[in-house]
Amino acid sequence: MDRTPQQFLGTNVLITGASKGIGGACAQAFSRHGANVWLTDVDDAAGRMHAATLGEGVHYRHLDVTSESDWATVTAEISGHGPLHVLVNSAGAAIKAPLTGTSLDQFRTMVDLNLTGTFLGIKAAAGAMSAGGSIINLASLRGVLATAELGAYGASKFGVRALTKVAALELADRGIRVNAVCPGSIDTAITASAGFAADDVEAYVRSIPMQRRGTPAEVAKVILFLAGDDSSYVTGTDMLVDGGTAAGVRTPKKSTQKV
Ligand SMILES: NC(=O)c1ccc[n+]([C@@H]2O[C@H](COP(=O)([O-])OP(=O)(O)OC[C@H]3O[C@@H](n4cnc5c(N)ncnc54)[C@H](O)[C@@H]3O)[C@@H](O)[C@H]2O)c1
Repeated sequence: MDRTPQQFLGTNVLITGASKGIGGACAQAFSRHGANVWLTDVDDAAGRMHAATLGEGVHYRHLDVTSESDWATVTAEISGHGPLHVLVNSAGAAIKAPLTGTSLDQFRTMVDLNLTGTFLGIKAAAGAMSAGGSIINLASLRGVLATAELGAYGASKFGVRALTKVAALELADRGIRVNAVCPGSIDTAITASAGFAADDVEAYVRSIPMQRRGTPAEVAKVILFLAGDDSSYVTGTDMLVDGGTAAGVRTPKKSTQKV
């Protein structure tokens, strides 16, 4: 028997990039906690399939986060069911290339998807959150620590942290909290994508203080905390979920990677 407390019972939750990965784990977690979940993505086949596994109160809709009209359509539909309470801006992608090997098109694509998509989401959600609410943006450890070969991605994620803080300041008096999470390396399609194939993954994982990648479910738990009343006095923050990577530097030993 599922004994998950129905913490989000009756709340309307919109999640982008929710067909899989971190957004997909959030959809599952909010639905287990009783929310009405609008799971959105551009990968319609995967989104519909994921929504079907989650049962009642879960809807799949096509929402390209770079399209202002898609945002308007989906938030108008949700408004027909009452105010929007939570938005999770999870849609995103990464390209791995040195700046000199990044085309203008690639750079613009990264900024458009990761940063402009988040901007449009904040605007649309703020209009639909007539009873206050919580917006959680997916930034990244790479938007906290500059990372070689992740210039376009990192620039977009540093930008997401800036947008988060400005939105928190501007929306606080309407009871809308805005926070970011900054995951380190999480086991999803992004970290398995072709651009990362040349990396020494074992050495990388040993460099993480907790010596492992995180899971989408571990990020979703932090997002649920930021969405709910347990974080009622938290806004404008960016929370690292990175196994300790940004805490500082460890000197590797000759015989073992353990400090
Ligand atoms: N996985 C990691 O290690 C990691 C680390 C830090 C930050 N993040 C961030 O977390 C978020 C989720 O990443 P993930 O690892 O779950 O990736 P993922 O590839 O598993 O999921 C991303 C989803 O976004 C969707 N998407 C792509 N373009 C879209 C668009 N224009 N409109 C709507 N949806 C679109 C994809 O179809 C996919 O379902 C991203 O913003 C990513 O940058 C991930």
